[in-house]
Amino acid sequence: MRALIQNEKLKKLTILFAICSCAIIIPVAVISGIVRASSVSSEDEKPVPQETAQVTEEVKVSDADVTSKGFKIENRDGVTFIDGILIVNKTYSIPKDYDPGDLTEDTQNAFEDMRDAAAEDNIKLWVQSGYRSYERQKELYERYTAEHGREYAEAYSARPGYSEHQTGLSFDVNEAGTKFDETREGQWIEAHAHEYGFIIRFPEGKGDITGYEFEPWHLRYVGKELAEKLRQSGECLEEYLGISSEYQ
Ligand code: DAL
Ligand code: ZN
Repeated sequence: MRALIQNEKLKKLTILFAICSCAIIIPVAVISGIVRASSVSSEDEKPVPQETAQVTEEVKVSDADVTSKGFKIENRDGVTFIDGILIVNKTYSIPKDYDPGDLTEDTQNAFEDMRDAAAEDNIKLWVQSGYRSYERQKELYERYTAEHGREYAEAYSARPGYSEHQTGLSFDVNEAGTKFDETREGQWIEAHAHEYGFIIRFPEGKGDITGYEFEPWHLRYVGKELAEKLRQSGECLEEYLGISSEYQ
């Protein structure tokens, strides 16, 4: 009888021990599972390591985004910047609604500095044609074509949407005419424009590269550093950047 009672007690103790073990083991297992799961998800959300980010960036810049001279080509809202320089020529157009309304402040200020310096040499400079809207360029191009024929018009006038005049960074100084380079004013421009950050955008003998015949009156503001660099190298902007100027 006593043995039976002891056996019964042992059974009860075993069941109690089993219940207590479950009460401890199950919560511990559940909690450790949650902790492990949450540490996996925070790993997934970790920021991309720097090295991977750089690789992604390199992949994004394809050959098509770089000129033959290795300068980066960027398109910002339809406007092309190459090495950070706004570019408009026969290859790179500008949106119809791009409208600074006038010469940019930098261009205007640089022109005024140049004009004042020229005046000290008894040279009178003025802007004959500055900013031109898309519509104004269209009128001019069509008039040029009607008066001189398409081939001549293409050599001296940009199609609407392809003129630097629409950028507010270019203007025609004094008289636009093929003999301007032989005048005192034209010669002063040739000698000094770069000191104020301007380049003669369509130089003599570079028509095959710029897409336009010699226009000694058409100036483009690029800043003093680049203007000086191009003066030293004798390159036009297309040569320096390694780009074309051809309608597609
Ligand atoms: N004469 C230059 C090419 C223009 O029309 O923009
Ligand atoms: Zn011009």
